[in-house]
Amino acid sequence: VKVFVPRDAAALAVGADAVAAMLQAECARRGLAVELVRNGSRGMFWLEPLVEVATPHGRVAYGPVAAEDVPGLLDAGFLHGGAHALSLGPTEQIPFLAKQERLTFRRMGVTDPLSLDDYAAHEGWEGLRRALALDGAAIVEQVTQSGLRGRGGAAFPAGIKWKTVLQAGAAQKYVVCNADEGDSGTFSDRMVMEGDPYMLIEGMAIAALAVGATRGYVYIRSEYPHAIAAMREAIARAEAAGFLGANLCGSGRAFHLEVRKAAGSYVCGEETAMLESLEGKRGIVRAKPPLPAVAGLFGQPSVINNVITLASVPLILARGAAFYRDYGMGRSRGTLPFQLAGNVRQGGLVEKAFGLTLRELLHDFGGGTASGRPIKAVQVGGPLGTYVPPSQWDIPLDYEAYAAVGAVLGHGGIVVHDDTADMSRLARYAMEFCAIESCGKCTPCRIGSTRGVEVIDRIRNNQNRAQQVHLLRDLCDTMVHGSLCAMGGMTPYPVLSALNHYPQDFGLETPDQQ
Ligand code: NAI
Ligand code: SF4
Repeated sequence: VKVFVPRDAAALAVGADAVAAMLQAECARRGLAVELVRNGSRGMFWLEPLVEVATPHGRVAYGPVAAEDVPGLLDAGFLHGGAHALSLGPTEQIPFLAKQERLTFRRMGVTDPLSLDDYAAHEGWEGLRRALALDGAAIVEQVTQSGLRGRGGAAFPAGIKWKTVLQAGAAQKYVVCNADEGDSGTFSDRMVMEGDPYMLIEGMAIAALAVGATRGYVYIRSEYPHAIAAMREAIARAEAAGFLGANLCGSGRAFHLEVRKAAGSYVCGEETAMLESLEGKRGIVRAKPPLPAVAGLFGQPSVINNVITLASVPLILARGAAFYRDYGMGRSRGTLPFQLAGNVRQGGLVEKAFGLTLRELLHDFGGGTASGRPIKAVQVGGPLGTYVPPSQWDIPLDYEAYAAVGAVLGHGGIVVHDDTADMSRLARYAMEFCAIESCGKCTPCRIGSTRGVEVIDRIRNNQNRAQQVHLLRDLCDTMVHGSLCAMGGMTPYPVLSALNHYPQDFGLETPDQQ
């Protein structure tokens, strides 16, 4: 009997290792033969540790399972899908999962992350094989046609970026994966690296073939030790099996891939600061141009993409650009793995085509707040994203529709706050975060963020409030227009959205009261 106990960091944090150990010990004691698979997480974090059993009728789930539940589960015959208070029924029929459109995450939790056989049996390497039969321009054309845009947050068309690198003349080119997932409430990159690492390796190999790169780096945040270990092991195994290295799948083409542990700073997720860090220097933002696509790592043309962007590519090559493009709306094609976090009852990963609404995510998937109180504000798009008020929850989740109201989808992070949240405190926190994480290169961000904290403190303390609100708006304007990168340039998004949509939390009756 095959039993699955996730080894995703979120499951480990709530005791998955103890459950696995107890399961093995108890089965050995009872003389029961089980094959234990440490899979990725299905992304239903409120049910972790989620234990699954393979039955003739498909996989059935139990959760959340504690180590002390294991003897009772075995007594109830859970190895054959027996009923128990923790039974959740067939895994794929759990509504949270059944309502999703899992394309990139289709193997997540299904396969053994490090098993090459499992990967190959589930559509693995098919995109790479197709790519090997095409020239670089044809691969780039597939990615362009799919409509895939950068999933790190900026949503720049991946095909155009790749084309720039392809057309750049240089003896050495690089593919760099930005896995410095720093946005609050986000974890989709981590889940891919821990739960389906070969998908990322395959996507990077395809990118390398497309642009003519022979070396690649995965820059993984230091706070992700399990992802770093999984990626290192997966790279070693893929190389030994000929999917990486000097002779990619016997094609005579080379692609060497290495993991680099990141420097533990939010701004190192900004692509040029990341390049500095990769080159062994302090992570300070570089002015653009030149774009990294023209002069990137060690001054050479480099593809830099987020984990999810690169992980989406194998499917696009395997099933064709049209298959992927058929999902989504407007210019937002395909799916986005939304990440529900904060004060939410059912937190986790929801992969859906663009076009659903925040209200659906919060209620149909999230089930409201964990505290049971009304939702007050939702920050979409990480710590630099806006606070989206209830009046905007029916806007489709689409890059352009969000931009039209001054909001961003970013990397798909969604952090929920209930009605006890004090929005002026959260605005202050945004400025404080910027002050702590600023690389210091430009004045609006380095100094503006510290002054921003002070101004918000004065507003909160009702010291000359009307004048200080005016000053805050002026400061935000300077930061938006005068900062070198998104760190200083977007910090005003959460600040101003809090002020505009929740003026009463700043002691004002209307946002413009002066
Ligand atoms: P950007 O708009 O400056 O650039 C987007 C990408 O397109 C870059 O890789 C840039 O080099 C490339 N590019 C632009 N024009 C190009 C051309 N003509 N040819 C080839 N490539 C071209 O945005 P930036 O500063 O890279 O990213 C900002 C975003 O990052 C924010 O919107 C935010 O949502 C997101 N972010 C994500 C985080 C995460 O954890 N995933 C953390 C912090 C911010
Ligand atoms: Fe550095 Fe902030 Fe300027 Fe970005 S905006 S370059 S993080 S000082």
